[in-house]
Amino acid sequence: MTAISRSASGKLILCGEHAVVYNRPAIAVPVDQIATSVKIFAKPLAEKGLVTILIPQIGMESNLKNLPDSQPLKHSLAILQDYFKINHFPACDIRISSTIPISSGLGSSASLSVALIRALSEFLGQKMDNEEINRVAFDLEKIHHGNPSGIDNTVITYARPVYFIRGEEIEFIPLVKPLDIVIGCTGIRASTAQAVAGVRERWINQRLKYDEIFSNVGKITTQIRESLRQGKISDIGLLLTQNHKLLQEMEVSCDELDELVEAAMSAGAFGAKLTGSGRGGNMLALVDASAVEQVKDALTQAGAVSTIHAIIQPSKGVG
Ligand code: MEV
Repeated sequence: MTAISRSASGKLILCGEHAVVYNRPAIAVPVDQIATSVKIFAKPLAEKGLVTILIPQIGMESNLKNLPDSQPLKHSLAILQDYFKINHFPACDIRISSTIPISSGLGSSASLSVALIRALSEFLGQKMDNEEINRVAFDLEKIHHGNPSGIDNTVITYARPVYFIRGEEIEFIPLVKPLDIVIGCTGIRASTAQAVAGVRERWINQRLKYDEIFSNVGKITTQIRESLRQGKISDIGLLLTQNHKLLQEMEVSCDELDELVEAAMSAGAFGAKLTGSGRGGNMLALVDASAVEQVKDALTQAGAVSTIHAIIQPSKGVG
């Protein structure tokens, strides 16, 4: 039986997370080393509308109808059914697999949304361009995160480094040099929705302080954009570490993240910070290619449960 197969990468927020929710700029890059794959197998002889969801990694094999309406995947498929203006999906198996750790700031939900939309639009013969995919993926992101900025679905849909300001035209950043990034995972799952809601609560209570932090993050992000364009890797490192300090002031870091950031810096990283919504999840360290192994080892010794070497290639930013 032939299948339709689509995949979408993971992502890293290089700088500007949280502040981006408050209309400050942020920069994100796609990470091809991790991805979600969605395969759809048509079952023309099966009962009308029978959709089976298979996620072998978590032992899931369920008839879509039997899932609760609040289940995120069911909710996403309900939105997509409305979008495609169909009463039910043709009978099929939807098989999902992913190498992106969930709830850890690497874009697992946005990656699933983009891969799912791409696979379904192909399966239903309804072509969608990237702009449309991104718009619909943003609607699905709201199921997972409540008040997303839209940066995750944007960087994953276009698969290029983006300089992103909420509500403004997307700007792609042409890299001039590859970026070697080591990602270190705390092993702590943390809800993006909760972290974003926590920042909002503190922003409401301490508005001046938080507005100033967000503006300082915005300035750093703009400087990083310039340094990326000029290939000044060590300058970017210094700015990333400054961004981490501002994330600590926002109270979205935690001891485990701070220890991994310290360990990466001691092992010779140009700069390091938490990435994504924080309170667990992952940190990133910008390194020279020659320092990858020593930074990975230092992160493991400091308690990282896993590390990934991500290489962001200049070609990703061209065109
Ligand atoms: C999550 O990857 C990044 C946050 O800034 C939330 C968002 O932008 O939607 C924390």
